[in-house]
Amino acid sequence: MTQLIVDHRPFLMLAGELHNSSSSSLEYMKPEWRELAKMGLNTVLTPISWELVEPTEGKYDFSLVDGLLAQAREQHLHIVFLWLAAWKNGMSGYPPVWVKEDLRRFPRAMEDGNPTPILSSFSPALREEDSRAFNALMEHIRIVDAQDHTVLMMQVENEVGVLGASRDHSQVADQAFASHVPTELMRYLVDHRESLNQELRVLWELNGAKSEGTWTEVFGDSARADEIFMAWQYARYVQAVAAAGKRAYAIPMYANAWLGGGDTPPGNYPSGGPQPRVLDVWKAAGTALDMQSPDLYAADFGDWCSRYNRPDNPLFIPETNSGSAGAANVFYAVGEQSALGFSPFGIDSGLRGDDSPNAQIAARSRAELGSSYEILAELMPELASAQVQGKVHGFVLDKGHPAADFVLDGVSVHIRLDEIFGHQAENGYGLILEEQLNTFLGAGKGFRVSFTPRDSDVSRIGLASVVEGHFELGVWVAGRHLNGDEDDQGNAWRFDQRQVHIERATIYHY
Ligand code: DGJ
Repeated sequence: MTQLIVDHRPFLMLAGELHNSSSSSLEYMKPEWRELAKMGLNTVLTPISWELVEPTEGKYDFSLVDGLLAQAREQHLHIVFLWLAAWKNGMSGYPPVWVKEDLRRFPRAMEDGNPTPILSSFSPALREEDSRAFNALMEHIRIVDAQDHTVLMMQVENEVGVLGASRDHSQVADQAFASHVPTELMRYLVDHRESLNQELRVLWELNGAKSEGTWTEVFGDSARADEIFMAWQYARYVQAVAAAGKRAYAIPMYANAWLGGGDTPPGNYPSGGPQPRVLDVWKAAGTALDMQSPDLYAADFGDWCSRYNRPDNPLFIPETNSGSAGAANVFYAVGEQSALGFSPFGIDSGLRGDDSPNAQIAARSRAELGSSYEILAELMPELASAQVQGKVHGFVLDKGHPAADFVLDGVSVHIRLDEIFGHQAENGYGLILEEQLNTFLGAGKGFRVSFTPRDSDVSRIGLASVVEGHFELGVWVAGRHLNGDEDDQGNAWRFDQRQVHIERATIYHY
């Protein structure tokens, strides 16, 4: 698996993403950093836009970058900068005015013979200027941050793709669409046939698994072919911008996707963005991006994680829900899918606390996420080494999915919603990791754990001890020894519903 290593140690990004415009003003951000640190974040996903970095062509202004770094450092927070440049949510609101106004150098994507507000990804000048500005930004970050490592990663653009149609219909796009699929992509499909995303593979094979031909010959005549065509185009562009940045300062970089689920036609979501079904197209287009990452608001959280968590693509979730959903899902993401980080969107919602009902809801939502983050931060060294050894599992339970099963330490582990004296928890979540033989750490709430030998004839398994506790600077501090009602008279290792916490259990065979 892949881990993010910061200053020689595995680092789990317990993060949150700011609202789009918050970080455009240092004054606005000034009081926010302390609150973000207080809620247990170690990393903040922070927009930085092309328009503010290069307001006049060729003249850079990095004062905002420097100011944000200084503010984050005061609170010992890390930053992932989001490079909002040619595209954000498919649209082109963030390029400087000198780009927006110059239609000759920077033409628009076309639809029905009319220009759209979206800059065309087929403009070589746009790619060059975007790459040049990003390279300058990365050079600046290298100079001011290569010692401190406040900046951990860069997101390149935001949710790219054509909106409103499945592809660009400008003249140059039409010409490219009528030409042959580039050999790099064809070769990639042939070489990676066995490991390709299933949907892409099926589409290619249904059309004869050709190793050359035009886009419609190879992928058929449908909006799905348009999406693959746009994916190649955007991926080439974003990979080129990332490569230009890495030439100056090579820290991890990724591109994020607005997900289009099920049969939603491309164009209803940005067509060409790094969806699972075109992830291989993004991989074929270059290697400067370390991963493609889902903005994951969908209900089938686990499925989407699995589609991004691939041997060639570690999972990182740059946007998702906060509150009780986030507090639960983070355990699944890091425990079950080895996520490098987790980052609910709009993390600064309601930070300027008034007493309004909305501010109170936002405060509750922050507190819920914060309690999960606090516990995961405490578990960090154990969790990181368990991830590497495949000795950890995470889960989210509710009445519809009340149980989870896995094998750890050679024994079968059965998790289910907690129940005591006839009262069943509504939901539960957490993770279990194997610390050493017969010893487990668990964290979460609202579930109970039972162990059975894999060969049930050999022996049974009982609880030797269950102790609650916490880690202080990496050292275990034991609390109550749990027995009686707290472990259902020895029948189960229980995590009650009150609050997320850590317990250590040892087992014996009899
Ligand atoms: C997805 C975008 O990437 C974010 O910048 C933000 O606009 C959110 N959607 C809003 O929910």
